[in-house]
Amino acid sequence: MRVLITGGTGFIGGALIERLCQQDTSISVYTRSTSHFDTEFISYLNRLEDIPEDTQFDAFINLAGESMVAGRWNEARKAQLVASRIDTTRALVALAARLRHKPRVVLSASAIGIYGHQGDDRLAEDAGQEDGFAHRLCQAWETEAHRFEPLGIRLCILRLGVVLASEGGAMEQLRRTVAFGVGTWLGSGKQWLSWVHRDDVTAAMEFLLADESRSGSYNITAPEPVTNRGLCDELSLRQQVFLKLSVPGFVMRLALGEMALELLLNGQRVVPRRLQEAGFEFRYETLREALPALYS
Ligand SMILES: NC(=O)c1ccc[n+]([C@@H]2O[C@H](COP(=O)([O-])OP(=O)(O)OC[C@H]3O[C@@H](n4cnc5c(N)ncnc54)[C@H](OP(=O)(O)O)[C@@H]3O)[C@@H](O)[C@H]2O)c1
Repeated sequence: MRVLITGGTGFIGGALIERLCQQDTSISVYTRSTSHFDTEFISYLNRLEDIPEDTQFDAFINLAGESMVAGRWNEARKAQLVASRIDTTRALVALAARLRHKPRVVLSASAIGIYGHQGDDRLAEDAGQEDGFAHRLCQAWETEAHRFEPLGIRLCILRLGVVLASEGGAMEQLRRTVAFGVGTWLGSGKQWLSWVHRDDVTAAMEFLLADESRSGSYNITAPEPVTNRGLCDELSLRQQVFLKLSVPGFVMRLALGEMALELLLNGQRVVPRRLQEAGFEFRYETLREALPALYS
């Protein structure tokens, strides 16, 4: 199998490539960096436009995007967050249109932020959506990805939850919420965190690549989301800390602005209904099951 990946140098893409390399897959990684060197299975490219039209790929995997948490969401940053996703997706669609042999499948990232803030409702893929910056960003990103479909290409949209692994990603910050003998939760602590272990993300991607009957949007989240307070309890138990305090919401808003409100103080309780109905089995269904691996 030959796969083209955008975002292949990142936290999720790197783990996916490791997984695919174990199955004799040949991988082309689109990156802005010029400091990567080709290996037996992996080649790097800086311009999608230079790919000859008789090149054959079986699949595209589209993960590229500027980090949502790397800086305050001022207007300039928001424009970068949008452009890094829309422009890359648009360039991939243009490549697919140009190639004589189209990829059979595209997996294109999105996020559970598409649902907006919805309190305690359990959100499957057909749930309603509330407005907000993350919602508008994901909606525009998914709209762009849907342009693969008129080309006759099977499309799976990955609505990713907060991806956790023992190194990198959000787990680094989460571990720091329990420090100096005190565990902390944010604001009311009632907001939901729809997390997922990275191993389940890459396994779900492999599952969707292989099963030709699958298409449309998939929530990539563990079956059991936790509240922020529940998360604090689990981490405190793990780190044997018994003093727990709330960080007031206004402090978070002062420090991080709109990002704090959308990503930390509000949340969504997302369930992976379509993946489970398709027969996908999660290795880590609850946070308690995942914590030993996340602390290893
Ligand atoms: N991790 C999560 O918890 C999570 C949750 C929901 C959604 N997602 C989405 O899933 C995708 C992958 O997440 P990740 O955690 O692996 O991200 P990451 O570690 O931050 O990696 C992002 C990747 O995107 C590429 N990229 C960054 N800015 C770009 C730009 N301006 N133009 C083109 N490419 C750019 C980078 O490639 P180069 O630097 O090599 O060019 C890098 O490989 C992201 O789009 C993210 O929004 C992630």
